[in-house]
Amino acid sequence: MNQGFTVWLTGLSGAGKSTIAERLAPELAARGCSVEVLDGDQVRTHLSKGLGFSREDRDTNIARISFVASLLVRHGAAVITAAISPYAQARNEARERIGNSQFVEVYVRCSLDELVRRDVKGLYKKAIAGEVKHFTGVSDPYEAPEHPDVVVDSEAEAVEESVAKILAELERRGFAQSGRKPAVEGAV
Ligand code: ADX
Repeated sequence: MNQGFTVWLTGLSGAGKSTIAERLAPELAARGCSVEVLDGDQVRTHLSKGLGFSREDRDTNIARISFVASLLVRHGAAVITAAISPYAQARNEARERIGNSQFVEVYVRCSLDELVRRDVKGLYKKAIAGEVKHFTGVSDPYEAPEHPDVVVDSEAEAVEESVAKILAELERRGFAQSGRKPAVEGAV
């Protein structure tokens, strides 16, 4: 069985967490990993339906994601999470639950100016107008990681560069080695 691990993407809404997760997942699969993506929007549709954006609800959301990730990691999976996860304490609890050596924290950085300019979901405009309350980065806190394992900058880098940086860190840690045959082929 492969050694499981979690790539924990954290960053503001629209910074590119889901895009990176989508591009990283097939790279990991090609390296023989059994991959699962726990995306914030999907989790909130299924696992965390009904939760809002108070600190308490966000912490519950993150605790659920980290619980599921820890189960998958225990079974050798490569897990990618993509939730804002704005509070350092909740991320540290996720790190403890999953295991420090299996937890790779990736800060997906992007300036607020750029996010407001992109505004893919139109939520920044509404948040600035006060129509959406407690919006992360506008009217609710985001605690940037102080010592992330990887920093990617979606404003300055192409998504391929960000994915390459994450893969390099995973390889450095002994996870997802390139050149490794996919698990199925290896078993033949
Ligand atoms: S988290 O804080 O609990 O980690 P999560 O990643 O699951 O957040 O959900 C964030 C997504 O919910 C955003 O990308 C956005 O589409 C939507 N959203 C709706 N209201 C808010 C809000 N007040 N703050 C942040 N995101 C919000």
